[in-house]
Amino acid sequence: MPATSAPPPPSTNAGRRHFDSCCFVIPTKAACAIGYAHLSLPLVNNFEHMNIVAISGSLRKGSSNTALVRAFQSLAPAGMEIALADIGTLPLFNQDDESAFPPVAQAFKDAIAAADGIIIATPEYNRSIPGVLKNAIDWASRPYGQNSFARKPVLVAGVSGGKIGTAVAQSHLRQIMLYLDADVIGQPELYLGPAHELFDAEGNITDDSTKVLLTKALEVLAGRIG
Ligand SMILES: Cc1cc2nc3c(=O)[nH]c(=O)nc-3n(C[C@H](O)[C@H](O)[C@H](O)COP(=O)(O)O)c2cc1C
Repeated sequence: MPATSAPPPPSTNAGRRHFDSCCFVIPTKAACAIGYAHLSLPLVNNFEHMNIVAISGSLRKGSSNTALVRAFQSLAPAGMEIALADIGTLPLFNQDDESAFPPVAQAFKDAIAAADGIIIATPEYNRSIPGVLKNAIDWASRPYGQNSFARKPVLVAGVSGGKIGTAVAQSHLRQIMLYLDADVIGQPELYLGPAHELFDAEGNITDDSTKVLLTKALEVLAGRIG
C-alpha cells in the first residue's frame, strides 16, 4: 500500500496573482516607492518584498486611524509595501452570498489571503470595534474552512481622541483574531492618543516618540513574516 501523508496546508499566498492585478487596495505613491525603490538593499528576513494589507476601521474622511495607517506607510522599512484596503465598498455580510461572493468582497478576501501580514488600525465604538471593521473581517473569514486570516501575522493598533487609545476595542479585536487563528502580535501594544497631539491638521504624524514606537512595531511585524 502506498504511504499516506496529510495534504499540505493551503497556501496563504494562494490569492497573490489576483492581488497583484486587482485594484481593491490602494497603495500610496510613498508606499510604492518604499516597496520597490530599495530592493537592492539588505531586506528584513531576506524577504525581497513584504506585502502588507492595512485596514482602517474608520470610513471618516478625517479619520485619525486612517492617518495612523498613512504613518505606518511612511515609516515602513525597506522592502515592505503597505496598501490600504477600502472596506467602505464592501456590502453587508450575508451568509446567503457565501457560495458566490460579490466581486468586491472576493477581491478583499483575496487581498487578505495574498498578504504577508496585516495591520488593523481601529477606532473604539461603544467599547468595541466599529461594525464596518467587523463586517470586513467576517467576509475574509468565510466560507467555513477558508478563513483568510489563519496563521497571518496581524499587528493591531488604534488611536482615539481620548487617553485610553481604543484599548477596549483592541482587546475585542485581539479576541476575534485569536479565534481566527491569526498570529496576533502581543507587543508592542499601540494604544495611541490623544490624536490631536500625535497628528497635525492634515493627518501627518508629528510626535517623535510615536514614530519610534510605530517603527518598532513594524520591525516586529517584519520579524513575524517568514
Ligand atoms: C458610534 C461611536 C461610538 C464611540 N464610542 C467610543 C468609545 O467607546 N470609546 C472611545 O474612546 N471613543 C468612542 N467614540 C469616539 C471615537 O473614538 C472617535 O470618533 C474617533 O475619532 C474615531 O476614530 P477616527 O478618527 O479614526 O474616525 C465613539 C464614536 C462613535 C461615532
